[in-house]
Amino acid sequence: MTMTSVAALPLPRSIYIEPTSRCNELCQQCPRTLLSREEDRDLSFDEFRRIVDQFPVLERVVLHGLGEPLLNKDLPRMISYLKARGVYVLFNSNGILLNAKRGQALIDAGLDEYRLSMDGATREMYARVRGVDAFDKVWRNVGAFIAMQKEQSADKPAVSLWFTAMKENLRGLPVLIDLAYEHGIREVYLQRLVYFEQGLANSRQALFRRALPEELELVRRCERMCQERGIAFTAAGSATPMESLSRDFGEHPWSGCQRPYTLTYITSSGNVLSCCFAPFGHRSAREYHEQRVLGNIFKEPIEAIWHGERYEAFRRAFESDHPARHCACDSRYRLSRYMAGVAISRAIRVAAALNQPLSSTDRCSSES
Ligand SMILES: C[S@@+](CC[C@H](N)C(=O)[O-])C[C@H]1O[C@@H](n2cnc3c(N)ncnc32)[C@H](O)[C@@H]1O
Ligand code: SF4
Repeated sequence: MTMTSVAALPLPRSIYIEPTSRCNELCQQCPRTLLSREEDRDLSFDEFRRIVDQFPVLERVVLHGLGEPLLNKDLPRMISYLKARGVYVLFNSNGILLNAKRGQALIDAGLDEYRLSMDGATREMYARVRGVDAFDKVWRNVGAFIAMQKEQSADKPAVSLWFTAMKENLRGLPVLIDLAYEHGIREVYLQRLVYFEQGLANSRQALFRRALPEELELVRRCERMCQERGIAFTAAGSATPMESLSRDFGEHPWSGCQRPYTLTYITSSGNVLSCCFAPFGHRSAREYHEQRVLGNIFKEPIEAIWHGERYEAFRRAFESDHPARHCACDSRYRLSRYMAGVAISRAIRVAAALNQPLSSTDRCSSES
């Protein structure tokens, strides 16, 4: 067996696990609201353990998929289990359920990062984008959580704000930066909209290579504001927000992506997907199940799925001029500035997966 054979590819050290597919919001840009989806269910703690125990080495686990992680009552237990293995653990969350009890449980479990999704600077815009009237409650929760951390001198989790930038809500970003600062948040991320022509997830809302001069000027102003306040302001693949809105990734934008070789994504139903872009933009439940789902970890071990025919066919397509639709369409939104457009051979990818520390291309859509 050569270095370049598929069996040489080690199991990923970076995984996404969806603790629940249930949600308490109706975001108008989210595939969970807009597209056909898997059944609503929580992952049980036993199922969770059966999943993570199959990965001999784990460095980083993102505990969200499509759904609100705080809805799973076993979430703190899952975090503790991973922390006992020395894993870096993080998730995005809407903050509606971040009360004192849950907040304390997250601190006690050793969560590394809590990423607050916040897409509106006013109660009205928040409700317009995220579908529920929860703006004030979320800020109350987050303020109290950060105050509680300070009281306890708890340096973890790091709390950051994740803003999905759209034409609709961009104007409010300076106000949000001030709100974040007042509440003690020192990291703000600009997420590029992944669009698939439904709801607010449509090309008319996109800023990537479509931003008007005044919109770019506003982003520049936000960069200056963050610098003055000591807030880290970043975007896709560690790019600056300005770079992330304007960079051209060339003809084969997906080709520098490492995700098919270095990470995997497991839903609360046990379905294994290639990355967190896979649940975006499918046209039907059939397309989702036939083209996005690469196996089910409740039916087959991850070793068999990772080295199996479906995953391998996905990788072969990825290496050709005709990758899966979610790679071809979405890669231009998310690639690292260092890797995009670079044709990398299978041998180099396998060697990288075997030897290298995780790169920014191991991070996914909500981190795009
Ligand atoms: C799908 S949510 C799941 C976690 C949690 N419910 C939350 O809202 O943070 C993960 C992240 O994806 C972002 N997101 C949802 N739809 C998106 C889209 N069309 N483009 C880019 N990011 C999106 C959300 O704002 C959130 O930060
Ligand atoms: S973005 Fe998060 S909170 Fe909003 S609908 Fe999707 S999963 Fe729920």
